[in-house]
Amino acid sequence: MRIIKTKTYEEMSAIAAGIIGGQVLLKPNCVLGLATGSSPIGAYKDLVKSYEDGILDFSEVRTVNLDEYCGLDDTNPNSYRYFMNDHLFDHVNIDKANTHVPNGHADDLEEEAVRYESFIQSLGGIDLQLLGIGHNGHIGFNEPTDNFPATVHTVQLTESTINANSRLFERREDVPTQAITMGIGTIMKAKKILLIAGPDKAEIVEKACFGKVTPEVPASVLQLHPDVTVILSAEK
Ligand code: F6R
Repeated sequence: MRIIKTKTYEEMSAIAAGIIGGQVLLKPNCVLGLATGSSPIGAYKDLVKSYEDGILDFSEVRTVNLDEYCGLDDTNPNSYRYFMNDHLFDHVNIDKANTHVPNGHADDLEEEAVRYESFIQSLGGIDLQLLGIGHNGHIGFNEPTDNFPATVHTVQLTESTINANSRLFERREDVPTQAITMGIGTIMKAKKILLIAGPDKAEIVEKACFGKVTPEVPASVLQLHPDVTVILSAEK
């Protein structure tokens, strides 16, 4: 595991965008696993800039997002599909048909979970998976529990995650209580993993990187992955 400490959010974002952009340059039709949340916004901004500067070409890139809330449609500004369009896909030359987010408003969520998992594997797996981390150590929406879920599945969100995410909603009661997420097994199958985190996550990142490997700290499983880079910024 490589750990890079940066002073600022901007520096963290620039390095993350450099790694993701490097992946696109090395393999133009790569499969990027993407995350939403506050942590990757700066990196997405930098990727857009590299596209505008003519450095990056996304025309052949395929993307699969980690997760999506259940019950929000794609036009809802709080949906992760909306977030991805808004922060990245609408601003680069990616083919939207090649961008994938689990369908959180599918009639049959169990069926959607099976479909999304096999779809990811049908792409040949994920070349580079970008992750943020929750204060409780969650990755994707894999909350602390007593096992490491293997595949895409639906989850009940914990109070801690609902509270953390409510900052983005008008009212706390608007935050969905269920989500669909890649499993720990899905994430661990990615060839490379890049985790980015701000200073408020320093304690949980330390636990995840150096503590016991346990599903009570889902991100601790990353210690078992052969190619993980963690970028931790000292300032918000
Ligand atoms: C988002 C995701 C979550 C976030 C995590 C950190 O797609 O899967 O695991 O990465 O909750 O969120 P931020 O970056 O907002 O602190």
